Parts: sequence; structure tokens; C-alpha cells
Amino acid sequence: MSTPSDAALPLILLGAGGHAKVLLALAQADRRCVIGVCDPQLAQDGQKQWRGIPVLGGDDAVYDHSPAQIGLINGVGQLVGNSSRARLYLALRQRGYHFPALVHPTAWVADDVKLSDGVQVMAGVRIQPDSTIGENSIINTQASVDHDCRIAEHVHVAPGATLCGGVHVGAGAFIGAGAVVIQSLTVGANAVVGAGMTLTRCLAAGNIQIGAASRLKTT
Ligand SMILES: CC(C)(COP(=O)(O)OP(=O)(O)OC[C@H]1O[C@@H](n2cnc3c(N)ncnc32)[C@H](O)[C@@H]1OP(=O)(O)O)[C@@H](O)C(=O)NCCC(=O)NCCS
Repeated sequence: MSTPSDAALPLILLGAGGHAKVLLALAQADRRCVIGVCDPQLAQDGQKQWRGIPVLGGDDAVYDHSPAQIGLINGVGQLVGNSSRARLYLALRQRGYHFPALVHPTAWVADDVKLSDGVQVMAGVRIQPDSTIGENSIINTQASVDHDCRIAEHVHVAPGATLCGGVHVGAGAFIGAGAVVIQSLTVGANAVVGAGMTLTRCLAAGNIQIGAASRLKTT
């Protein structure tokens, strides 16, 4: 879990794509100190600055800083079938680095909600009491997570999705933009709820829901 002292840690952003851009804006809105960005492409292009912060180098530039001195922001996004975000997080955690949970100042998170390391809560999100969010999960712009939800690690709840009360989401699952999951259902590990879907039955691990029927995911 993140601790209050996390708020004082200088942060390094990993990646410089669309998701990273949103996280930099979040960190700045929350008045966090971001000392630079590590991104192989920016480093290769010889770029010195990115969106007003220094380019520190490629991925390896992180190792110039000890895990005790800095916190990391995982700027790699998570689309369906892409595991690079989880791999980056796990590799750096294994080397002792820490990813403080980040919450946009316009999000509302009930006091007793448990946010694990690396959780990212974007602008306009609502998370209601007794919910828990697992490591490295994204609760994206204007998503709503109601009471007693259990969200495991490496989950992406995409923009505008709604989880009603008591929903359980397994590790690595993806809840598409604007999807609705009705109360007390379980979405299995690595399952995908398509954008705009309303899920009215539990979805088995590794399955994808588009339209009325679910099928086994192939990617
Ligand atoms: C569910 C999803 C992963 C399916 O991807 P896929 O398996 O590659 O499916 P395809 O794109 O090949 O589409 C297969 C068919 O399903 C339809 N389809 C795909 N996603 C759909 C959706 N969310 N709702 C309704 N129909 C959908 C396609 O139009 C296509 O129909 P067709 O065969 O009649 O042409 C994807 O469409 C989706 O919803 N992704 C989530 C996007 C999102 O939330 N992004 C947020 C980023 S922050």
C-alpha cells in the first residue's frame, strides 16, 4: 500500500505516449514533483525536454536513482492483448522500486478504499466505500467503482465504465470504455468487457464479451 510519505517523493515518469501525458497532467495538478521522463524513443531522438520536464534517458536511466530516493510512474498504457505495462511494473518492483498510487484532485475516493502500489485514479473518477484496487491498476477518466468492489492487479477500467456494487474483477482484466457491469458479478482474470457493453452475467477468465454472447479471447 502507498503511505503518506509517498507524497513527498520526487517522481520519474516512464514512457511518453498518450497515457504518460495524462499521468503527467495528473501529477502536476496534484502538485507532485516530476523530475523527468525516461523514454527510449525520446532518448534516441536526442530530445532534452518533453512537455516541460527533462528527458533523463532511455529505460536504464532509472537505475541512476536508488529506489529509496524516487517513486516511479508507469506511463505505459494498457490496451487489450498488451502486457508490456505489467511486465515493466513487475521488473522494476523486483529491483526494489516503488510506484506511489496517484489520484487526480478531482477524483472522489472514499476514506476506507484501499489503493495498492501503482494504482492510477484519473480525473473525475468515483470510488465508493469498502472497495479495493490491486497493484498497477488503472481507474480511468470518469469511471465509477461502487461499494464493495474487489479489483485485482493489472486491471484497466477504461474511461466512463461503471462497476456497480460488489463486483469482482480478476487480474489483468479489461473493462472497456463506457461498459456497465451490474452488481455482484465476477469478471474473471484476463477477461475483456467490450466498450459500451452491459454485462449481466459473470464473465469467465480469459473470455471476451462483445454483444450478447461471450467467447474465448484469442489475443
Ligand atoms: C472488445 C474489443 C477488444 C474487441 O476487439 P476484437 O476482438 O479485435 O474485435 P474486432 O475489432 O475484430 O471486431 C469484431 C466484431 O465485433 C464488433 N465489435 C467490436 N467491439 C465492439 C464493441 N465494443 N461493441 C459492439 N461491437 C463491437 C466489430 O464491429 C466487429 O463486428 P463485424 O464482425 O460485424 O464487423 C474492442 O472492440 C473493444 O471494445 N475494445 C475496448 C476499447 C476501449 O475501451 N478503449 C479504451 C482505451 S483507454
